[in-house]
Amino acid sequence: MRMPLTALKHCSAPSSEKYFSRNIDQVLAPLYLSPVMTIDQYANQFVCDLVAYEPGKPIDETARELGLDPSQIVKVASNENPLGPSPLAKIAMREALEESHIYPDGGGFRLRSAVAKSFDMDIANVILGNGSNEIIELLCHTFLNRDSELIAAEHAFVVYKLMATLFGAKYIKVPDPGFIHDLDAMAAAITEKTRLVFIANPNNPTGTMVAQEAIDRFMAKVPEHVIVVFDEAYYEFPDSPPDVLKYVREGRNVCVLRTFSKIHGLAALRVGYGLASKPVAALLQKARQPFNVNAIAQAGALAALADTAHIEQTRSVNRAGMAFYEKELAARGIEYVPSFANFLLIKTGAGDHVFKEMLKQGVIVRAMSSYQLPDWVRISIGTEAQNHRCLEVLDAVLLVPAAI
Ligand SMILES: Cc1ncc(COP(=O)(O)O)c(C=O)c1O
Repeated sequence: MRMPLTALKHCSAPSSEKYFSRNIDQVLAPLYLSPVMTIDQYANQFVCDLVAYEPGKPIDETARELGLDPSQIVKVASNENPLGPSPLAKIAMREALEESHIYPDGGGFRLRSAVAKSFDMDIANVILGNGSNEIIELLCHTFLNRDSELIAAEHAFVVYKLMATLFGAKYIKVPDPGFIHDLDAMAAAITEKTRLVFIANPNNPTGTMVAQEAIDRFMAKVPEHVIVVFDEAYYEFPDSPPDVLKYVREGRNVCVLRTFSKIHGLAALRVGYGLASKPVAALLQKARQPFNVNAIAQAGALAALADTAHIEQTRSVNRAGMAFYEKELAARGIEYVPSFANFLLIKTGAGDHVFKEMLKQGVIVRAMSSYQLPDWVRISIGTEAQNHRCLEVLDAVLLVPAAI
């Protein structure tokens, strides 16, 4: 097998004279790897084993493929904010652009202070990340190795498995009957080797949430050597989410993840935060890059945190959209998982087919086969117009069954 030139960059290059005067195949022949050798054998095996994360299909790419204007595409695939970014964040980010020649505040002082203040905590409890995804990675960096285990629910957010694999740890998947985390079973799965337990609440892609009582029962059983991660990327959407910050305040080994990507509408900025007991937060600080959150993102996030009008408007649009889908899906007899977040898991049958057919009509939803849910699609709640368009296209696609 011939390796691309980029894969051979560590091999000694032929002199430029020879390189240009002889047939390129002659020059490179000794450098091609034999059919049984691949570059993978020189790579970290855990990276080779990784199944790369598949993001929602981008609007521009879809528009190009369909020959449409990007404004005609409805993307309801990545649980983004359909209202756009916080208007206050946009103003702050424009101002911050003027200082783009200066490195960002690596310690994120202003943003961390504001986050700490809003939860009545200390700045030492707050860690910033390049999206909350980065904090998931930092947690794995800090606590996992080849001998350790990470526990998550069967249909938990896929990045946990990806990161456990990357660090060579064992990924323990605990069944989640009815798509709800079974915290008793997750507690029972803890061993001496367990270092991280992830509880996504509400969970993506199911939208389900575990209640306070189940969490408290679980926390009473968790030993010292286990760090519990409450991933609350969608925390702001449910009316009465459980309180897990009390465990941070008690100094338990927990980390609560939040993000500016969803309710604040800053997904492109890549900024999230973790609230952790001080010793846990201090370790995570060591594991990050010096300037992991850029200055524009810090400025936008700081302003968004105070933009209560945008937060309230987003929640209200989400509530209305959720009610619309629940009513319309029930009327059609289409099964869905009741959701506490800003998306719905819907059983359409043949999810890949439904995704492809809806895409042809300019509506991007998310197929769920990567979550071993081939009969389901996930649809983010959009604006009223987006929701109507999405349902109209879903109706049209479901009228024509997939060829088996
Ligand atoms: C449950 C959950 N956690 C974390 C994330 C990562 O969010 P971000 O990295 O944009 O903060 C997502 C994104 O969709 C998510 O659904």
